This record gives sequence, structure tokens and C-alpha cells, in this order.
Amino acid sequence: MRVLVIGSGAREHALCLALAADPAVTFLVCAPGNAGTAAVAEQRRVDATDPAAVAELARELAADLAVIGPEAPLVAGVADAVRAAGIACFGPSAAAARLEGSKAFAKDVMAAAGVPTARAYLCTSADEATKALDEFGPPYVVKDDGLAAGKGVVVTADRDEAIAHAAACERAVIEEYLDGPEVSLFCVTDGTAVVPLLAAQDFKRIGGGDTGPNTGGMGAYAPLPWLPPGVSDEVVRTVAQPTVDEMARRGTPFTGLLYVGLAITRAGLRVVEFNARFGDPETQVVLALLDTPLGGLLAAAADGTLAGHPPLRWRPGAAVTVVLAAPGYPGSPRTGDVLTGADQPGIVHAGTHRRDDGAVVSAGGRVVSATAVGDSLRDARSRAYALVATLHLPDGQYRTDIALRAANDEIRLDP
Ligand code: AMP
Ligand code: GLY
Repeated sequence: MRVLVIGSGAREHALCLALAADPAVTFLVCAPGNAGTAAVAEQRRVDATDPAAVAELARELAADLAVIGPEAPLVAGVADAVRAAGIACFGPSAAAARLEGSKAFAKDVMAAAGVPTARAYLCTSADEATKALDEFGPPYVVKDDGLAAGKGVVVTADRDEAIAHAAACERAVIEEYLDGPEVSLFCVTDGTAVVPLLAAQDFKRIGGGDTGPNTGGMGAYAPLPWLPPGVSDEVVRTVAQPTVDEMARRGTPFTGLLYVGLAITRAGLRVVEFNARFGDPETQVVLALLDTPLGGLLAAAADGTLAGHPPLRWRPGAAVTVVLAAPGYPGSPRTGDVLTGADQPGIVHAGTHRRDDGAVVSAGGRVVSATAVGDSLRDARSRAYALVATLHLPDGQYRTDIALRAANDEIRLDP
């Protein structure tokens, strides 16, 4: 199988590592890629958000399967163009990627499908926003309706800050605060059948103890020892399957990866967000534990044969990943610093590029993540932290509490 992966982040590096380990994958290209993907896949230049250019590249490479990593190309219609060129594609159409591209659209689909989520208002004026904020009360949750790389959401007890963020959004979604631990569940779907991967947890805030602004994610672990068995099946039954069915009913089937972000509240599970692609950094830990060959799974989703795919196999133990971010992230990250230690196994590259002299240089906010598996969560955690300690990025920042509470058995669900 000849596979083309589109994107240049940690997700694409993790996908390439798993695809390269699949014996059925005989040829692997990542475009445009980063310094990490270049070590496992052939590299091609392409504008990832240009549908015609990506379709042309897939044709030129005689790809059997294209995997579209990030949301921006999906929202731009790259998967549509690849499929129109007669090439199997893992990733939703532009119409289906609106589940991530517009929070208001996602709420509409959830309402139609009876999916439990936070009550919300779409506000386009300061008056509407203030009214909605005062109805829900603190803590306030204000989201930019459009794509914002995980940074368009403000959760705050400060009413003025909430009003200011709403004013800065053209269309603001204001919703009730969901209290409870968060879960990311990736569901592979061919538009009809749904196969959940292992549940993971992400750490969204920049600072230890979940303080400071939201980021794209500063670390993750899987599986979740505190999550009761059966919750993944419940999420498929009450969230993913009804959503996939509703998208098919609308004539815009969703194929690819439906990322369900949930909060486990006192009142039950509630959807926080949908994404239309694998999440970063959860992908690093989920794929590190997947024993089933990834190429075959993604191809089955792209071909519409997922119902016939064998049950997934998982490696025992746990995985932890710790993100090393540039100074200034998530505000204005400094780039262009030399990073040492990045060529070791377990280092997944996000914002990196390789200079002609071979040095790896930071090229984004989240630079790399250090991923490790272990027999237990504690073991995986100490290995991931030992690995991140071998990296050197001037003024680099990472959280020291990724997976700490779970490893100490401190996460409790309300009865
Ligand atoms: P989103 O981009 O919608 O995932 O939001 C980013 C992060 O903001 C989430 O992962 C949560 O940590 C937080 N968040 C979003 N919506 C809510 C909510 N309704 N209640 C509490 N926290 C939320
Ligand atoms: N880890 C959150 C995301 O990928 O959106």
C-alpha cells in the first residue's frame, strides 16, 4: 500500500511512525512534513491547504491512500479533491469537517442527533453575549465559532474578561460550564460503522495544576485508569454513532476520525467539542499503544469496509507524552532556536525543521513531545520525563504534572 500523509505536525509524525511499522505499507510520503517525519517517510513540498495541489501530488505518487492530518486542509476541501481524483482518502469532506470548523454547526448536529452537550447560545452582539453570560453565571465559557487551533476558548471567572473575549469574536458561542474530568475519545468511522480507539486525557492549560491560558495541549496519557469500563461504548452509543448517522442523513457522511472531547460530569457525559481529525498530543500516546496495523485500519475507513475490520489489539501498559514548547507559547512563541536531543526514539516532532548543517531548529509553538510506554502509568510517566530531560531548547517550557494525578490514583468520579 502506497500512503501519502498530509500535514507537518506531531500528529503526522506519530501517524508516519505507526504507518511505517505496518508491513502492508510499502511506500510512505509525508508532505510537507517536518524534521521528524523526514526520518521515516519520503518528504514532498506541498501547500497542504490547496486541494488541487494535494490531489495532484497523490496522483503523481500513485497513492493508494491519502491521510489528511490537520483540520485546515479538511475544512478547505482537500479530502474532497483527493477522492474526486479517484484516490481513497482518510479524512472528512469539507461539509463534514464543519463539525470542527464551526462550533455552532456542531451544536446544531448534536441537537438533531440527541447528543448530550453543554447548553449554549450563538451570540453576534455584545448585548446577546452579556445576556448569555449572566444567564449561565461563572465560570464563563466563551468560544470563537471558527477554527482557532485550540486557543479560541476562554474559560474564566472574570466577567469582564469573558465579555472582552466575546467582543473579540465575530460569532461567539457562550455555554454552560461543564465540571468534571475530560476525556478524548478518537472514533474511526467510514461514515457508517464506528470503531473507538483507547480513551486518552489531554492537558490543555500551559501551566502546572491546570493554570494559565489554553494551548493546543501540553501532554497526554492513555489509557485512563479511573474511567469505568463501558464508558467508551457508551460514548459510541450516545455520541459518535448518532452523530455519524445524523451526518449521513444530511447527505454529508463523515469519514475519517471523529474526535470526541468529553467532560464526565455529575449529570453524565457531555460533549465539550468535536474535532474532525486525530488530536495532538493524544495521538502520540494512543498510537504508541495500538498493536493493530494502522494502514489497514485507515484504509478500511476510507474504503467503507470498517464493519469487516478485525477487532483492534492494544499493547498492555500505558503511554505518556510530555510536550516541550517554545518560550512565549501560547502567546507569541520564539522560533529559530537550536534543539538538541530531538533525534532519539520517542521524540515526536511538531514545529521543527532541519538546517543544512543537520541541526534541528524550532519552527513553532509546540516544538516536540517526548513519548514513552511503560508497564504502568507511573512507569510510562517516569520514562517520558527522563526522555524530556535529555532535550535542550533554550528557555523551553514543559509541564511537570502530566498524568501525575492519574498515576497517584487521585482522580475520582462523583458517584
Ligand atoms: P474546545 O476547543 O471547545 O475543546 O475548548 C478547549 C478547552 O476549554 C476544553 O478542552 C476544556 O478544557 C475547556 N472547555 C471548553 N468548553 C468547556 C465547558 N463548557 N466547560 C468547561 N470547560 C470547557
Ligand atoms: N489535543 C487537542 C486537540 O488536538 O485539539
